[in-house]
Amino acid sequence: MDISFVSSATKTPGALVVGIIEGGTLTVAANDLDGATRGTIRRVITKTDFKGKAGKVVELLAPDGIEASRILLVGLGKPEDLTVAAAQGLGAAVVRQLMTSGETSVTFMVDLPPREGKEAPAKAEDPVRKNLSEAEIAVHIAFGVALRSYRFDTYRTDLKEDQPTLKKVVVVTSERAEATRQWKLLSAAAEGVKVARDLVNEPPNVLYPDEFARRAKALAKLGVKVEILNEAQMKKLGMNMLLAVGNGSEHESRLVVLRWNGAPKRRGKVAAPIAFIGKGVCFDSGGLSLKPANSMMGMKGDMGGGAAVLGLMHALAKRKARVDAVGVIGLVENMPDGKAMRPNDIVKTMSGQTVEVLNTDAEGRLVLADALWYTQSRFKPRFMVNLATLTGAIVVALGTEHAGLFSNNDELAGRLISAGETVGETVWRMPLGESYNRLLNSKIADMKNIGGPNAGSITAAQFLQRFVNKVPWAHLDIAGVAWQDGEHKALAPSWGTGWGVRLLNRFVADHYES
Ligand code: BES
Ligand code: MN
Ligand code: ZN
Repeated sequence: MDISFVSSATKTPGALVVGIIEGGTLTVAANDLDGATRGTIRRVITKTDFKGKAGKVVELLAPDGIEASRILLVGLGKPEDLTVAAAQGLGAAVVRQLMTSGETSVTFMVDLPPREGKEAPAKAEDPVRKNLSEAEIAVHIAFGVALRSYRFDTYRTDLKEDQPTLKKVVVVTSERAEATRQWKLLSAAAEGVKVARDLVNEPPNVLYPDEFARRAKALAKLGVKVEILNEAQMKKLGMNMLLAVGNGSEHESRLVVLRWNGAPKRRGKVAAPIAFIGKGVCFDSGGLSLKPANSMMGMKGDMGGGAAVLGLMHALAKRKARVDAVGVIGLVENMPDGKAMRPNDIVKTMSGQTVEVLNTDAEGRLVLADALWYTQSRFKPRFMVNLATLTGAIVVALGTEHAGLFSNNDELAGRLISAGETVGETVWRMPLGESYNRLLNSKIADMKNIGGPNAGSITAAQFLQRFVNKVPWAHLDIAGVAWQDGEHKALAPSWGTGWGVRLLNRFVADHYES
């Protein structure tokens, strides 16, 4: 989608979007349009049930007096309702209406309702704070457009009526320079989300570990250092646990290591990097502890944590974030085979601890055990945040609204919670503790890979924590949010959501850039 900002639009072919405030006052744009169309806008408001309620859209086709092929009147609600989320929702609603309508371009004219009093303009991307600036409204409309216009049509050879036509989006704003500046940051995030969604949506016969790694290499163009470790290299490092998960697959396992060094260099001082680790199970059949057919459907998305890490690193590099960040993605395919890892196998992890594997379907924690250990020993990071579609139990507990958050550090946890609220990717903190940790004890090895029938998400998190030393660490269990099967979120039209990219991008911007 070609998205741009202009300070005024004299000619507006294509569709024209005008915001209407609930309660009658017309904004400057709405007033001008009312004049040009000889009072049509006021007539709609007085003669029909459209009064500008938030989320309502009416479409006027071939309106008299102007060049536009159609006008979309979009309800903005009361002035105080115009939040970041509302601006994004507006962009998304219009894309939904016009994406395949035959229309090729759309111009948004959504100026601010006249402000009463002189309140300070709010911070970008904060859904709670009101009174957005003109520039903020413009960029968040654009962000809604960017996220909602995403499509994954690679494998559809006949789109029929579903052919997208909308190509060009223009947002009129009195604060064009500021909007263009802010858009650099937000469009980087939107690109990162697209990177993550594409990976999650790709089928597993196409996207196996080495193909994921190849796609990760593309980040080198943005200045990211990309290393790909193969099985021989991982064997040398003692990553037997990650390799054991991939043993039953025809595809070789990989470890992707990404480094973005954007922090300004201070004399002599090298600050510890921040680190993000992703579960990259390109397909999870369960292995010999095979999943039933229905549970296996969708398991191409079991690399959603890794996809979010790659999308985040893309966003950070694209917007040249002033931070040193590391991304590590453990890539495997979990398959049953004569060479596959068995329930009862005991494997020595990179950390030296041994694991009794009792269920080969609890494989994500095994991959992460070595990936976390590798990251912390090699990079001595300031903190580690890992993302994983780790347990079905987190979906039972939290559904698809919140991801599960587990952490050994209150400050880190608090920062993740508030970044999530700000961007609309919310997380809910879950407990950790010795009584849960005990459930993993084994009689024959240092630990088992499953903890029994209860508290499945917590015992999975406890397992990960056994591979984390003193460093602050957080684990996001994203099994309920990385993809969506039923109703789709307003800003996420595809199966893969790209969940986590926006949250972590915001989290980095808020706290770790110098
Ligand atoms: N990838 C799954 C978790 C999952 C389930 C993600 C549903 C998304 C939707 C994970 O590898 C898994 O199979 N976990 C098991 C753990 C069990 C064997 C202890 C689970 O949740 O059933
Ligand atoms: Mn599994
Ligand atoms: Zn899995």
